[in-house]
Amino acid sequence: MSVDTDNQTPDTGHLRTQELIRFDKVTKRFGDNTVLDGLDFRVEPGKHVTLIGPSGSGKTTILRLLMTLAKPDEGTITVAGERLFPAEEKQIREVRKKIGMVFQQFNLFPNMKVLRNITEAPVTVLGLSRDEAEERARELLDLVGLADKCDAYPGQLSGGQQQRVAIARALAMRPRVLLLDEVTSALDPELVAGVLDVLRDIARTTDITMLCVTHEMNFARDISDQVLMFDSGHVIEAGPPERMFGDPEHERTREFLSAVL
Ligand SMILES: Nc1ncnc2c1ncn2[C@@H]1O[C@H](COP(=O)(O)OP(=O)(O)O)[C@@H](O)[C@H]1O
Ligand SMILES: [Mg+2]
Repeated sequence: MSVDTDNQTPDTGHLRTQELIRFDKVTKRFGDNTVLDGLDFRVEPGKHVTLIGPSGSGKTTILRLLMTLAKPDEGTITVAGERLFPAEEKQIREVRKKIGMVFQQFNLFPNMKVLRNITEAPVTVLGLSRDEAEERARELLDLVGLADKCDAYPGQLSGGQQQRVAIARALAMRPRVLLLDEVTSALDPELVAGVLDVLRDIARTTDITMLCVTHEMNFARDISDQVLMFDSGHVIEAGPPERMFGDPEHERTREFLSAVL
């Protein structure tokens, strides 16, 4: 992976801040199915990394491990130099605050208005006052183009609007890392562009590290610093989007891209 030359620190062992996310020899099994097999994986701060690869190759599993929605069987996961796995519950909760996720199915709280969907976690988890949380929520709704939807319920919004609320909700926690798992796959085609535009904006105007699973290859090409091709739980090829899409080395990558492009 590339190195940030403007962010070099002397290599004194503990100052290895070049990686915000680090998987070391991570293995994840479901019964007899070894989904990730000794995976080593790094993401540098502020980078936008896209995971591509066939269905079932383990992309969602990687994001779920980072969200602590699943636990590895072996290996270590570190975020911003702090252990996420294995670690004590208290530490896991702290590290977990650095990470936000948006899912394919928006997973909004259906019984809460839009504003409350966004303020809930900042109030209960971060301890913000309701006023502070609402101010932050309104700014974010503005960013995602939904300033007028504060008082709507999720069920009154289109899928694209719900997904933009879900993005605002994730950002309200001021995460260092935003995980995006096929966030436009469940949307009607005409609603996809609006969501991708919001994400392009976030990629351009914030320093949030993004780890993205998508089949939207034009979007991936626009926002990614690096694209990783996954197959059977392994990174089989990685590189900048120009090369990965323009001149992939691996036969498997070529096959996959010709099927989706
Ligand atoms: N909760 C689960 N229980 C059993 N098997 C699972 C579970 N989650 C994922 N898997 C299996 O792990 C493999 C990788 O899944 P996943 O990470 O969702 O792949 P991708 O996101 O690349 O499509 C698949 O074979 C899937 O069936
Ligand atoms: Mg998936």
